[in-house]
Amino acid sequence: MTTGASSSGAWWEHAVGYEIYIRSFADGNDDGIGDFVGMLDKLDYLQWLGVDVLWVTPFYESPMADWGYDVANYTAIDKTYGSLTDFDAVIEKAHALGMRVIIDIVPNHTSDQHEWFQAALRDPSSDYRDYYIWHDAPEDGSLPNNWVGYFGGPTWTLEPTSGQYYLHLFLPEQPDLNWRNPAVQAEFENILRFWLDRGVDGFRIDVAQALVKDEQLRSNPQLSPVDDSMERWEQWNSFEHEHDILQPETLAIFQAWNRIASEYDALLLGETYDLAQLEKLDRLLSNGDALHVGFWFGAMHIDWNADSITSTLALPLSKISAGLGWAQNSHDEPRSVTRFGGGDLGQQRALALAVLLFGLPGMPFLYQGEELGLKNGVIAAEEKLDPVGGNDPTAGRDGTRTPIPWEPGSGMGFTDSFVKPWLPFGDRADAETVSVQRNDADSSVHRYRRLIEVRKSLAHIAPTLLEWIDDVPKNMVAFRRGDVVFLANISQEAAPVLLGGELLYSTTDSGRESRGIIGPDEAQIRLVLDS
Ligand code: GLC
Ligand code: CA
Repeated sequence: MTTGASSSGAWWEHAVGYEIYIRSFADGNDDGIGDFVGMLDKLDYLQWLGVDVLWVTPFYESPMADWGYDVANYTAIDKTYGSLTDFDAVIEKAHALGMRVIIDIVPNHTSDQHEWFQAALRDPSSDYRDYYIWHDAPEDGSLPNNWVGYFGGPTWTLEPTSGQYYLHLFLPEQPDLNWRNPAVQAEFENILRFWLDRGVDGFRIDVAQALVKDEQLRSNPQLSPVDDSMERWEQWNSFEHEHDILQPETLAIFQAWNRIASEYDALLLGETYDLAQLEKLDRLLSNGDALHVGFWFGAMHIDWNADSITSTLALPLSKISAGLGWAQNSHDEPRSVTRFGGGDLGQQRALALAVLLFGLPGMPFLYQGEELGLKNGVIAAEEKLDPVGGNDPTAGRDGTRTPIPWEPGSGMGFTDSFVKPWLPFGDRADAETVSVQRNDADSSVHRYRRLIEVRKSLAHIAPTLLEWIDDVPKNMVAFRRGDVVFLANISQEAAPVLLGGELLYSTTDSGRESRGIIGPDEAQIRLVLDS
């Protein structure tokens, strides 16, 4: 079977992305919170690592109910993170170092403290009321419909003064915007231009799948009963998401954004978080007239066996003909090293999966600290800050968001040694720090750096089709792009490599010598003769 690849000639075609979770990246003013001044200082490191595109998570004015994904002003920088001047300095230096910067835009919802929502609350007859989605309270005391939120629980909160409910797919502090209102569309076109004029190279679009909702707000078909004790994804998966997300009108919105982006040669990267409705995602992605790239989230839910890996990667490739973005980590999911068993084993597996993701058609992303082989930070119940998951420390996203360990020592080079970081470091060893790893050619950071380098040297495969290689031993995942083979041994046994060719990359050192063998959980990149 062969699957899609095409050449758009765009600057992001060969790019490797890197997610910066600003709060935990680097603190420049020693208040324990990452910021732009801190980031500026670390751009040389990112250039050394070899990444091309930096995605910076939200830094806008925010009451921080969802750590910045609740925006109170889309054209102002929260003072925690610095000033517009600091922002400009980061963009300028990143560009000087040959990197691009895309920023996270959050169009699905605002903060409840945003002036639009405040105006809508103060005066239900104001034009701002229709910026949001309201519904009269049904007489029988039920909710307006059966939608469940991404964080679990109902999506409707009663506003007592008017007696109307408003919709929120996330926290009650994050009211959803009404994207059927042309005034909302116009506001965001201005916001995009504001940042494009300041020199950003594009946007990562938060919750891109959900902007538009069913006009009549119809209930979703229910697949199985839900109750409050269920984990949030279990609740979500109890419904078919026919009416709350991926509405056909989304296309025209992103087509309009695409026209703006084209004026600036900017990238539109969607957080297209849906694993079920691939035809709808395909329409947003493959023509190149709407989103340029959309993340495929399957890799964040892979089980460590060859079937799970192959099917998770093959599914989107078979249904979405272009524009896939690949990531196994983000600020929203437990780190993959932890998911794959922690320790050396977890690290080796995460790197092996990275080799496969870097070989697929599309754009690979690393999440800060992934290159260090970081496992989740350890967070005690009383230190939990993420609103997701209530008081259950294992349910929240804090563990993946702990500050980056730059150096050994009490502030870990993230902040001053006497300062308490906003989230604990979560139990880091010296060997996990950037400075120690940079001095050790066998460390994780060097392995990721080499992987990025090898991928860049293989730019010629970008327009080639992907062919799955089936005649490999069981527990092996292998595919070919032109004259390059990517393969991973998803087992505890070494296996012979029957493909021959020149070894360009291995996740293990022994791999570099023993050319005919692939070790347990090892992945390789091989240059083969055209057959
Ligand atoms: C996205 C973000 C996540 C946030 C949510 C609501 O999924 O990645 O961190 O909580 O949107 O904005
Ligand atoms: Ca700071």
